[in-house]
Amino acid sequence: MSITLLSSPLQGFTDFRFRNAFHHFFGGIDTYYSPYIRLDGKLVIKPNYQTDILPKNNNTLDVIPQIMTNDADEFIFVVKFIQQFGYKELNWNLGCPYPMVVNRCMGSGLIAEPERIKKILERVHSETDIVVSMKMRMGYHHAEEILDVLPILDNFPLKNLAIHARIGKQLYKGGVDLESFQRSLDATKHKMYYNGDITTVEAFRALQRRFPSIDHWMIGRGILADPFLAQMIKDDTEQYPEDAVEVFFKYHDTLFDEFLVKLKGEKHVIQKMSSYWEYLQNGWLQEETRIIKKLRKSKSIDEYTGHLAILTENLYDI
Ligand SMILES: Cc1cc2nc3c(=O)[nH]c(=O)nc-3n(C[C@H](O)[C@H](O)[C@H](O)COP(=O)(O)O)c2cc1C
Repeated sequence: MSITLLSSPLQGFTDFRFRNAFHHFFGGIDTYYSPYIRLDGKLVIKPNYQTDILPKNNNTLDVIPQIMTNDADEFIFVVKFIQQFGYKELNWNLGCPYPMVVNRCMGSGLIAEPERIKKILERVHSETDIVVSMKMRMGYHHAEEILDVLPILDNFPLKNLAIHARIGKQLYKGGVDLESFQRSLDATKHKMYYNGDITTVEAFRALQRRFPSIDHWMIGRGILADPFLAQMIKDDTEQYPEDAVEVFFKYHDTLFDEFLVKLKGEKHVIQKMSSYWEYLQNGWLQEETRIIKKLRKSKSIDEYTGHLAILTENLYDI
């Protein structure tokens, strides 16, 4: 069975700079979801959101924008906004677990409100011709919440449901709940995508064996921790490319240069890169934790470059 891999959005990480660099150097991802667009009580789109989805910034990528809202007017406003750039689909985030969001009945806090979900979808489908897909957890407090939502969703022409197999209360802790994912799969007529903890080729294979009917898989943190993962899954191999280190540093330098231009001040660039290194040091580069810790604490670009040179030497020695 041929599979489709989708990059699950990570606010603060998977912006257009990352997506372009990732796609160019690593590949393996078919479609990228951009991090959510959220309005602040007014029908105004922040410039950063716009930059992130502008076609000229995504001209080699297949991108689906995402919204996080609990309000039909906001939803419709964002539909019109993205349609002017030619987008045909908007993904709706009902997964975000953070208290600030959940307490306002958004993200995974909205899952327990099926009637509200229904009213929003009714208006969006009667007032626009956008294709809607959804990304959700299975609930906030418990994994049965979704079971009251799925029958309602069956009445709408959604493109798909992507489910992160956790509940909101868990944040990112604990394991994924595969039994509850299976129960959700059995309770919907919609096309389902799986999301959650695809971190290695072996983990992917185990999930594929467990859910043989799933052919769309969303990977979030996994490709930050191991940027080769998506292509290795596609190639069905656990073998890294021979030029992995070289490719990785070309990717690093591209991203680094982009952030040098975008962010003002060395400190901000190092901070930004540090957030990517945190995933890498727990993933593909976990043997190099010591030097990466130093790199992340660098006080200047000179210092950063020095640590980077040591890391490069270490990796070429492998
Ligand atoms: C820092 C961070 C930011 C995230 N931002 C978003 C977002 O903007 N939209 C969204 O749908 N999910 C967001 N997520 C959730 C991920 O897309 C994904 O669903 C989750 O991490 C589980 O998948 P994974 O185990 O493959 O990472 C975010 C997760 C993290 C850790």
